[in-house]
Amino acid sequence: MLRIPSRSLVLVAAFNLHLLSNVRSATVSSSVAQTFEGIGGSGAWWPHDLFNFPDSVRQNLSSLLFSESGLGLSSYRYNLGGGGANVSNPVRAPETPYVSPGVYNFSADPQGTFFLQQASDFGVPILTMFINSAPAPLTSNGASCAGSFVSGSGPAFATYMVDIAEHWREAGINISFISPMNEPDNGFGPIPCGQEGMVVLPTQRAEVVSSLWDELNSRGLTDSIGILADETSWLIEAVPEYPFWLPQVSDKIAHVVHHTYDFPSDLGYAAFILQLKLYTETPSWMTEICCSLGSPDGTGRGFSGGYDPTINNALMFSGMVFQSLVIGGESHYDFWTLVSNGIGCSPLNNATCVSTPNANGFTDGMIYYDSDYATNGNFELYIVKHFWTYKHFGNFVKPGSQRHPVSGSDASEYTLVVSNSTSYNVIIMNPDTTDTTLSLTFPETVCATTAFRTSAEEDFATIEAATGGGSSWSLPLSATSLTTYIFDRSSC
Ligand SMILES: *[C@@H]1O[C@H](CO)[C@@H](O)[C@H](O)[C@H]1NC(C)=O
Ligand SMILES: *[C@@H]1O[C@H](CO)[C@@H](O)[C@H](O)[C@H]1NC(C)=O
Ligand SMILES: *[C@@H]1O[C@H](CO)[C@@H](O)[C@H](O)[C@H]1NC(C)=O
Ligand SMILES: *[C@@H]1O[C@H](CO)[C@@H](O)[C@H](O)[C@H]1NC(C)=O
Ligand SMILES: *[C@@H]1O[C@H](CO)[C@@H](O)[C@H](O)[C@H]1NC(C)=O
Ligand SMILES: *[C@@H]1O[C@H](CO)[C@@H](O)[C@H](O)[C@H]1NC(C)=O
Repeated sequence: MLRIPSRSLVLVAAFNLHLLSNVRSATVSSSVAQTFEGIGGSGAWWPHDLFNFPDSVRQNLSSLLFSESGLGLSSYRYNLGGGGANVSNPVRAPETPYVSPGVYNFSADPQGTFFLQQASDFGVPILTMFINSAPAPLTSNGASCAGSFVSGSGPAFATYMVDIAEHWREAGINISFISPMNEPDNGFGPIPCGQEGMVVLPTQRAEVVSSLWDELNSRGLTDSIGILADETSWLIEAVPEYPFWLPQVSDKIAHVVHHTYDFPSDLGYAAFILQLKLYTETPSWMTEICCSLGSPDGTGRGFSGGYDPTINNALMFSGMVFQSLVIGGESHYDFWTLVSNGIGCSPLNNATCVSTPNANGFTDGMIYYDSDYATNGNFELYIVKHFWTYKHFGNFVKPGSQRHPVSGSDASEYTLVVSNSTSYNVIIMNPDTTDTTLSLTFPETVCATTAFRTSAEEDFATIEAATGGGSSWSLPLSATSLTTYIFDRSSC
């Protein structure tokens, strides 16, 4: 009999315990939850500046956003400008093609339409046209902000929106959704305003939707262009407002869409989804979020300034994607904004400032640029960790793929299992500072093929595939990381 000194035995036991505590197990359901429609972001307001960059950089940017070697986005939100009347920040004052009723200048906003064309050229399947304000002459104060929608002007507003969408469709750019009121809860006044905005009271929102639907219907476009509404900023605000407009038009809306600027808890999110189900069974879309500090586990979230390009903040935002797709069961996610100049420091004067958090900037982009580019000629694109983490969702949560719920005592909302006819993609976040392993059981025999990881040191690095066989696999999750494991739906 082998004699092992007792001290070693204790060590072995402790080692095994340590291993055990770091292995979690969960089971993938054979049933599917929602079918995904898109992962994207908004073309506001960076096109104003990026249009001025050298063409090679613009092409690189488009590829970084829309190609599979980049984010692989399947959705792009084009901001149809209201003309920027009385908006003081020119970057946030996009021109409008509106001249007068039925008269348009389609050369207006060359910046916004350039990147819309780019998204279309790269084959981005979902193109949404969203609007912060009606053209100034149609609003209550003749400005593109601080005023409100004028009751009774729905048909004129709708004619304008559909005329513009039809123009681009005829030019080969298939705008397939219109969102007529982005954050109708806020006019973004007082004048001079920092951005466009138009209040649409809850009691006015049905008019906006039904006028738009009538206009689309009169042109036979209701099957080609869906209506998204109402992009309310906060979930806790959306719910009490729904009774005032949603029941009247729920059959005319493709998807109820909302933002999450109240940074809801999981419980709050689930409660919101239950409320929404009173009006529609169609999955809602999360269409805008940015600008929060906080930790990978979600603590410290809340709307604020401050620039944090690190893995900590990128995982915090990844946690919000998991929340919408897993807790909310939603079928579409858009980050606001894809490109930002909110670095909060001058990269030419300080080589480390882009990769270091500071209090002056904003965490609202995947890619950043120098706000002084026009004077210092710095046309560099700065990629932050958010780009690499969002790429996991952009590359592996494709339209038409489906989510499989995950169960078991160790199941976490940070495990997103997505399948198509040939693969399972498992996107998992480990927000903790210790390594762990997930032992995952599939409903069928699968074969691990490859994996990609983003962490403090890695940017979507190819790592070893999961190990195991049959339906049981081990997925190592290194500390503070986001990993995607790919499996073929076949035996090895
Ligand atoms: C918008 O700006 C114009 C030009 O400065 C000014 O005449 C007008 O009064 C402003 N509109 C509002 C509603 O303040
Ligand atoms: C149309 O808009 C473009 C771009 O702003 C401008 O250069 C042009 O003068 C406008 N055309 C008319 C007829 O207003
Ligand atoms: C736009 O839609 C039309 C009709 O469905 C289709 O023929 C065309 O190829 C589409 N264009 C693009 C760029 O996807
Ligand atoms: C450069 O930026 C870093 C990070 O923002 C900051 O800590 C440092 O003080 C800056 N250096 C100079 C010389 O400004
Ligand atoms: C595109 O921009 C990224 C980020 O600045 C850079 O790493 C890459 O080399 C650029 N690619 C091309 C082809 O210019
Ligand atoms: C299924 O997903 C995998 C991994 O994302 C992808 O490589 C493959 O092309 C997809 N298959 C189909 C049929 O879309």
